[in-house]
Amino acid sequence: MAVTLPTKMESLSKTVQELAMKGYNEVPERYVHKGGSSGGIISASAPLLDVPSIDLSLLISPSPAGVEELKKLQSALSSCGCFQATNHGMSNMFLDKLREMSKEFFALPMEEKKKYGNTADDIEGYGNDSVLSEHQILDWTDRLYLTISPEDKKRLKFWPENPPSFREVLEEYIMKLKTLNEFILKAVARSLNLTENCFLQQYGENESASVIARFNFYPTCPRPNLALGVKPHADASAITFLLQDREVEGLQVLKDDQWFRVPVVPYSILVNVGDQVEIMSNGILKSPVHRVVTNSNRERNTLAVFFIPGSEMEIGPVEKLINEERPRMYKTVKDYVSIYFQNYQLGKRPIDAAKI
Ligand code: OGA
Ligand code: NI
Repeated sequence: MAVTLPTKMESLSKTVQELAMKGYNEVPERYVHKGGSSGGIISASAPLLDVPSIDLSLLISPSPAGVEELKKLQSALSSCGCFQATNHGMSNMFLDKLREMSKEFFALPMEEKKKYGNTADDIEGYGNDSVLSEHQILDWTDRLYLTISPEDKKRLKFWPENPPSFREVLEEYIMKLKTLNEFILKAVARSLNLTENCFLQQYGENESASVIARFNFYPTCPRPNLALGVKPHADASAITFLLQDREVEGLQVLKDDQWFRVPVVPYSILVNVGDQVEIMSNGILKSPVHRVVTNSNRERNTLAVFFIPGSEMEIGPVEKLINEERPRMYKTVKDYVSIYFQNYQLGKRPIDAAKI
């Protein structure tokens, strides 16, 4: 069974793009972070994170270099929770095409984009941050949110017809990511000395799993130290693939209670584990808390694709990773996405609800 997305409380009257175009020097009150959990003044000048780069083609090699790469994968995911994937089998031209079509979509006249607009109670489609709770501080971003899988949840009315290649290019990208997702789940299991399929078994069949694409557009922001592109969160997925903007930085990851900037590596794909893989790995692999900062002079476009086990799948720590030194840290959960949004709305870190 597919995951159920949360229900919105209201629809905002203006997209962030419209707010940004007004040329204000201030941001509306609902976007302002006044300290507390996000640290008050938001700093874009955090230190750079040394995100390990992993050559995917080496991960299946029995050579010493292959063994080394697996170790690197395990160490990357247990320290910062993410890595830059290289040799992923997609050409630079193809990745640029994806970026270009996302830019073209957000550059369409507002009227045209609103044809794909999300509705008052639905987060799917084009629109700005979904208002899920009364006290929510809004993200300085507009999005196009599309369910790609399972097939029967796909609602083509939200899929842009313009640029004309949009659907075809996106489908091709997702097909490639499906292969990578399986490949990475297997490699991650091997990197922990487990049988190759043990994470993939919990993830389930592609027919029941959900794949969600989120095109993020971050307009320039007049007060980058007051608003966030996306507030701190970890992903509800098993695995997330992020195609970053080719030039503009913005993503930050929390590591040892400090924010670090994630560098732009133009033709790598940033892969991070989400909460569900942290649970399966009994906490050995870390679902990183991350946020997006804004800037006042350049727009930023990214594409996040989330791979999420079907809601009927039981997700829990793999037996072999539970022992005396490392007792079971998480319960077995089902439909984690619902648990995620219930807690998110209450302002809690969702994975804590799964902790023993
Ligand atoms: C997300 C996300 C980061 C970015 O969409 O969940 O964290 O840089 N995006 O856009
Ligand atoms: Ni995220």
